[in-house]
Amino acid sequence: TPVKLVDYQPFSHVLNRVELTFRLAPQATRVLARLHLAPNPAGPGGDLRLDGEGLRLIALALDGVALEATPDATGLTIAAQALPDAPFVLESEVEIAPEGNTALEGLYMSGGMYCTQCEAEGFRKITFYPDRPDVMARFDVRIESEMPVLLSNGNPVAAGPGWAEWHDPWPKPAYLFALVAGDLVAHSASFTTASGREVALNIWVRQGDEGRCAYAMDSLIRSMRWDEQVYGREYDLDVFNIVAVDDFNMGAMENKGLNIFNSKLVLATPETATDTDYERIEAVIAHEYFHNWTGNRITCRDWFQLCLKEGLTVFRDQQFSGDMRSHAVKRIEDVLALRARQFREDGGPLAHAVRPDAYVEINNFYTATIYEKGAEVIGMLKALVGEAGYKAALDLYFDRHDGQAATIEDWLRVFEDATGRDLTQFKRWYTEAGTPRVKVTEDWAEGVFTLTLQQELPPTPGQPDKGAKVIPVAVGLLNPNGDEVVPTTVLELVEPVQSFRFEGLAARPVASILRGFSAPVVLERNVSAQERAFLLAHDTDPFNKWEAGRALAKDVLARMIVEGAEVSRDWLAALARVALDESLDPAFRALALRLPGEDDMAATLHDAGHVPDPARIHAARRAMAGALAQELAGALPGLMAGLAVQGPFAPDAAQAGKRALRNAGLALLSRLDGGAAAEAAYAQADNMTDSLAALAVLLEAGRGAAELAGFEARWAGERLVMDKWFMVQVLHAAPQDLASVVERLTTRADFDWKNPNRFRAVIGALAANHAGFHHASGAGYRLLADWLLRLDPKNPQTAARMSTAFETWPRYDADRQALIRAELERIMAAPGLSRDLGEMAGRMLAG
Ligand code: ARG
Ligand code: ZN
Repeated sequence: TPVKLVDYQPFSHVLNRVELTFRLAPQATRVLARLHLAPNPAGPGGDLRLDGEGLRLIALALDGVALEATPDATGLTIAAQALPDAPFVLESEVEIAPEGNTALEGLYMSGGMYCTQCEAEGFRKITFYPDRPDVMARFDVRIESEMPVLLSNGNPVAAGPGWAEWHDPWPKPAYLFALVAGDLVAHSASFTTASGREVALNIWVRQGDEGRCAYAMDSLIRSMRWDEQVYGREYDLDVFNIVAVDDFNMGAMENKGLNIFNSKLVLATPETATDTDYERIEAVIAHEYFHNWTGNRITCRDWFQLCLKEGLTVFRDQQFSGDMRSHAVKRIEDVLALRARQFREDGGPLAHAVRPDAYVEINNFYTATIYEKGAEVIGMLKALVGEAGYKAALDLYFDRHDGQAATIEDWLRVFEDATGRDLTQFKRWYTEAGTPRVKVTEDWAEGVFTLTLQQELPPTPGQPDKGAKVIPVAVGLLNPNGDEVVPTTVLELVEPVQSFRFEGLAARPVASILRGFSAPVVLERNVSAQERAFLLAHDTDPFNKWEAGRALAKDVLARMIVEGAEVSRDWLAALARVALDESLDPAFRALALRLPGEDDMAATLHDAGHVPDPARIHAARRAMAGALAQELAGALPGLMAGLAVQGPFAPDAAQAGKRALRNAGLALLSRLDGGAAAEAAYAQADNMTDSLAALAVLLEAGRGAAELAGFEARWAGERLVMDKWFMVQVLHAAPQDLASVVERLTTRADFDWKNPNRFRAVIGALAANHAGFHHASGAGYRLLADWLLRLDPKNPQTAARMSTAFETWPRYDADRQALIRAELERIMAAPGLSRDLGEMAGRMLAG
């Protein structure tokens, strides 16, 4: 039975204060809770309902008097007649078993330490509680355990042998609760806030990992400074703790004052982490830190408002990464990810609004739509109201809603109040799913250039018809010499069809449309290859310069796949010019050289009315890479030599860009020399970025056995590094070999499938190997379904998340559709199927 937004009711009571005592033991942890409750004058009255799952109730008392109550499967109800009409204290004692908690939600154990994950609804697995984000309380926590390090939210109060007490002065919902107990060591630093508060910073890790925290700490300090400088937001406690854990369902969690991270997003050295890992660490450390204001100080009224904190916090971390690195490169990377994950979601059976209005299992809604489209919607708002309007609105938001659990209506109202703009129509971005398509037609007559934009809103599950969106379309015009004659202007498309006139032009211009990807839409435009090549060469907007090359590559590749066409000479020449243009950032050139992905091509062909054939896509893409290698053959050695990094490894954007372009060159070179240069590169590599890139190239070339063995010998026992070893083999397996590669890897003793990182490294990579996963035999589909069914009883959240590999089934031919449907039906029929996986499989079948 779904939970619905329209059914929202405030809680019956207010909860001012919570006192918790934990007596930790792996099999039998006792949790004592004292809830200071009072009737809520603004609430519906009636019974007191507390959430609670899998708890053994030991004792319950109201104002010191024992109370009889029998919990049901999801909680505990105390009848209205038994409740005082005045403030009261409800005490409970429950027993839980963290060691047996394989779902990694609530209190669980990872690598011998206790830790928690409470978002979204894990706190109810710890104690009986109103586990909803609009119930905000001050927490006092006492931990009793033999573990040497005992942490919770807020500030430390007192500690002695075997115990510690914490007080969090900021009212918070239960999903932000955290507790950690373990044999940990800290990498420490300190930070002085703009107003002079000294904050002790600690990153807690297992013995031996303390030398791998420097980059995370540096990222944290830069994030804290940035949020002060750009948003005027200061930190508000005496300590900020981060803990790295090996078993974690997601990336990280913003618990107040005690962030808990997947260790892969904390630990890094040049030998063990790639440039991409460093970039993600910086971004996620920032993301979780930024939640302190956008999420914690101002939280969500209910889980339908999840994008209120996630969309905004992603938007903020994207701004931060752009400031730290390159805005142009960051924007291209973000759009690549948006299209690969969010457009794919939005165009399939799992499409949902940025603010959905119903869900079965909220964990299934931590999606690319809520996060990434949620951030895009904020980018559009900013484009519409301008820098100053955005700043005024955000200041008002922090001012007006600090300490509250807010809604999207509250969020939009601060923009309306700060700028005077009516956002009624804009709100559709939050309530309606689907990726709008914008058709462009151009007209040139009597010195007037007219752009006509028409928006189409495709139907999505449960939403057949949609209203016109407010679409900011950033446009610039170039004259035939390549000079910009109209600088970037934001056109506001609000009608189904609208024309925009540009006067006073001497010649017909070339239009650069949707600069900076100013809206999350698909642009439909009949553009000649010449015009795309012109924009690739001359556009002053770096995103659209890249986009022109991308569109050109997709056109060429689509013709190769569908018609068996040859690679276009013009495309080869245009791309070679970009690759060798030393005035351009190497990172940008590396992105330009990255060919469209196979899944992306499948989506593109499907959109154009074709049935994609994964094998043909795979073959054509290889042919395209081969032709590009031929084109660049003479230039590659010089290009690569010029990109050698001088001096010691630094994980900064400049070095990372050089390595990216150099390794793109290495991949092309292997199409000419069969992998000889990659073998040498692997042997010489002194950092994980170069090692892993060379290894991937060798595997693509059908080599690499000795290197894989050497890698394994060197890194056995290093979980994060061995995840890469597993993953690279699966990602780069030939399509017909994929199932056997996965079967071989999954029978190894170190395939610890209950560890989400290891599971994702193999089973996630299985689904990411497009031609292999969609091999006509159906072996990939079967293997994935087998593993989902195996994981589901242990860890439903991760099983459900990985099932999205099947969401693209409507794109493919009847045989593949039948194979996938059979697997989804097999999943649906499994006895004891979780609510998580059941909801996902059901929605995919219905879509
Ligand atoms: N709020 C976290 C973040 O985005 C994500 C945690 C989600 N966890 C979950 N089990 N649904 O930073
Ligand atoms: Zn977040």
